[in-house]
Amino acid sequence: MLDTESQTKGPSKRMLALKDFEAAAKRHLPRSIFGYVSGGVEDNQSLRENRSAFAEHHLLPRVLVDVSQRSQAVTLFGRKYDTPFGIAPMGLSALSAYRGDIVLASAARAANVPMILSGSSLIPLEDVIAAAPGTWFQAYLPGDAKRIDALLDRVDAAGFETLVLTVDIPVYGNRENNIRNGFSTPLRPGLRLAWDGLTHPRWLLGTFLRTLMQHGMPHFENSFAERGAPVLSANVLRDFSNRDHLNWRHFDQIRSRWKGTLIIKGVLSVADALTARERGADGVIVSNHGGRQLDGVLSPLRVLPEIVEALGRFPVMMDSGIRRGTDIVKALSLGARFVFVGRPFAYAAAVGGQGGVLHGIRLLREEVDRDMALLGVRSCEELSRDLLRPTASPSDGEYSASVLPAAMKPPTPADSMRPRGLANSATA
Ligand code: GLV
Repeated sequence: MLDTESQTKGPSKRMLALKDFEAAAKRHLPRSIFGYVSGGVEDNQSLRENRSAFAEHHLLPRVLVDVSQRSQAVTLFGRKYDTPFGIAPMGLSALSAYRGDIVLASAARAANVPMILSGSSLIPLEDVIAAAPGTWFQAYLPGDAKRIDALLDRVDAAGFETLVLTVDIPVYGNRENNIRNGFSTPLRPGLRLAWDGLTHPRWLLGTFLRTLMQHGMPHFENSFAERGAPVLSANVLRDFSNRDHLNWRHFDQIRSRWKGTLIIKGVLSVADALTARERGADGVIVSNHGGRQLDGVLSPLRVLPEIVEALGRFPVMMDSGIRRGTDIVKALSLGARFVFVGRPFAYAAAVGGQGGVLHGIRLLREEVDRDMALLGVRSCEELSRDLLRPTASPSDGEYSASVLPAAMKPPTPADSMRPRGLANSATA
């Protein structure tokens, strides 16, 4: 089990919102590692778009609703969670925080929210699920039948019940920021990296050297059935082979072998979401990989309504850009069944260990609770499109149309979308 004593130094009173963890992590982490976590790709268009999509939706509350009995608990794949959000998969978490994957998974378990262990993680998946049963596993699979089966069998034998297959990474995005910040996998030893470590002594001693002394050099443990490359090496290359071969036929193979819950992450088009359902996926996560893959790709929030409309009651989840309770209620109002939040929890783990992650979950849960009350809703099922008005920037022609009274507006495709809510549907 993880020694969490030194991890749970009381969460700082100054951490009032998830963004506060980011500022603290920027100071705490070497530039190369902070850059890897925070970075997007090329010109960061999609990274920015993930935030602006939320800002361009405005909330429209109902009043004089008795919200004293509200609850944000949701049931997902037969399991009741305390919040409609979980922790998204993030690679190399055990490099930004001591025992990062276990810290994240244990905090999530303690708070009764799901956490998805990344396939690019540095702690053997068996150790993570032993510390935090109920954790989900996210795989990056090569288009190679034998290697797929071997990894699935390992994940199954370890006791994972939910597998998330990420499909938006046939090749790695063009992460120029990694090169600019001196980050690579494996990290290449050198003066620049040494200086980056030495100038962040708390991280160097408390995370990196402590990991080396207690657990040895971290390796990519979970990309394949067998151990992968070390995280620091002068010459070893990481194996990304055959990812670009992965296709729907491999998905069929995965579906027939994996008996548990199977989710596809990284879907953005209605056509792909429909295919995922037809071919036996149990759910999809609409995602642009946190703006880390194809730059210029649109925000999941913008396509969520059409995917939900096409898929009906099929579990459609989303991630990318969520930083506030209001973002969560917006995504749920547009039909997401559940959402995942990534980077802020990596920062919370880095600066506050398990206590930091728990504090971050608490902050977000309190925001959702307050937002539900202020919106006049008592449960996540009551969040519907009636509570939202999309507004583009004032310079955009759509803006003026969006502020016209409903009766004066020409019908739009959005008008035909069925509200999911019950209590608030009278505002349609
Ligand atoms: C891994 O999935 C990453 O986005 O770095």
